[in-house]
Amino acid sequence: MKPLKVGIAGLGTVGAGVMKLLAAQADLIAARAGRPVVVTAVSARDRNRDRGVKLDGLNWYDDAVGLAHDPAVDVVVELIGGAEGKAKALAEAAIAAGKTLVTANKALLAVHGVALAKAAEANNVTIAYEAAVAGGIPVIKALREGMAANQVSRVAGILNGTCNYILTVMREEGRDFADVLADAQRLGYAEADPSFDLDGVDAAHKLAILAGLAFGARIDFSSVHIEGIRRISGIDIAFAQELGYRIKLLGIAEKTEAGISLRVHPAMVPMEQPIATIDGVFNAVLMDGDFAGPVLLRGRGAGEGPTASAVVADLIDFARGIHVPVWGMAESALEEARLVPMSE
Ligand code: NDP
Ligand code: HSE
Repeated sequence: MKPLKVGIAGLGTVGAGVMKLLAAQADLIAARAGRPVVVTAVSARDRNRDRGVKLDGLNWYDDAVGLAHDPAVDVVVELIGGAEGKAKALAEAAIAAGKTLVTANKALLAVHGVALAKAAEANNVTIAYEAAVAGGIPVIKALREGMAANQVSRVAGILNGTCNYILTVMREEGRDFADVLADAQRLGYAEADPSFDLDGVDAAHKLAILAGLAFGARIDFSSVHIEGIRRISGIDIAFAQELGYRIKLLGIAEKTEAGISLRVHPAMVPMEQPIATIDGVFNAVLMDGDFAGPVLLRGRGAGEGPTASAVVADLIDFARGIHVPVWGMAESALEEARLVPMSE
C-alpha cells in the first residue's frame, strides 16, 4: 500500500513526540491505518538542535511554508504554535495546496478557525485538530461524533494542564507558584509563552473551539470572559480545602435562553464533585446532551505522549480515508451566535 507521507512543522515537545510515536508504533499504526504513515519532511528554526529523533534523509525546510509545496508531503502537521505568523501562513498554504492540515494549535483555531474551515471547504480538504483541546482526551471526536445526535447545552471543565498541575502541587506540597511553573515548563506542559496558560487564555482558546463544535455556532473569541490563576495564593488554596472545596480553573460554555455564555475563571468546586478530584496535568471535560445526558471525560491534558497520541490519531483517520468534516467550524454549518456578556 502507498504510505501516507507526512510533513511536520515544529519539532518541540509535540513535534518530536509525534516522530517518536510514529517510530515506536510503526507496525501497529500501519496495520490500523491500512498503510504505513511515514514522515518525509520537517521544519523547525534550529537545524542543529538535538531533538532525540532521527532526521537523516528527511527534507528539511528553514521556511515551514515549503512543506505545503513539497510533492513528497500528503498531510501537513502544524506544531509551531501561535495564532499568527508562520503557523497561520503554513495552515493557509497547506489548505490552498489542497493538503489536509493536522494541527494542535488552539490559538490559531480559536482566532482564525472559521476562516480556515471556509478555505478548507472551498478546497475540499479537511482540518483535523484532536490535539488542540485537552491533550490525550479524544474530546473532539466525542463531541463531533459521539454527541452528533444531541443538542448539547453545556461543555465545561478543566482545560489547562499547566494551571491544574500548578494548583495541585501548590495544594499538596505547599510550594511556590513560580517554582511549580518552572516544573510545568520542564515537563513540556506550558505554552511557549506561559502567560497564555496562567492568564486563562489557553483555556479560553479551547473553550471557544469546543463551543463552536458543541453549539454549531460562530464564536467570537473576544467575547469569552477570561480570568487566570495568577492571583491565587497558597492561603486561598488552604482555606478552600478547610471549607471542603478545591480551587480549579474552569472553562464553561453554556447555551442559555439569552444566548451562549463563555467564561474561564478559577472556581471553588465542592470536594464531592468528580471534577474536584481531577489533579495534576489531568483535564476533564463535561458535556450535557439532551438524549445522552451528562458525559464526563478525563485524561492527561498536556505533554509529549498524550498530545502526540491525539495528533497521530488524526493521521491514522486520514490514512484510512476518513475525511472528517470540519463541522462546528465550517461557515456553512454555523449559526450566528448571540453571545452573552458576563454582566447579563
Ligand atoms: P514548542 O515550543 O516545544 O515547539 C515549537 C516548535 O516550533 C519548535 O521546534 C520550534 O523550533 C518550532 N518553530 C517555532 N517557530 C518556527 C518557525 N517560524 N518555523 C518553523 N518552526 C518553528 O511547542 P510545543 O511542541 O509545546 O507546542 C506546539 C503546538 O502544540 C502549539 O500550538 C501548542 O499550543 C500545541 N499544544 C501543545 C501541548 C503541550 O503539551 N506542549 C499540548 C497540546 C497542544 P526550534 O525547536 O528550532 O526552536
Ligand atoms: N499548555 C497547555 C496546557 C498544553 O497546559 O494545557 C495543552 O494544550
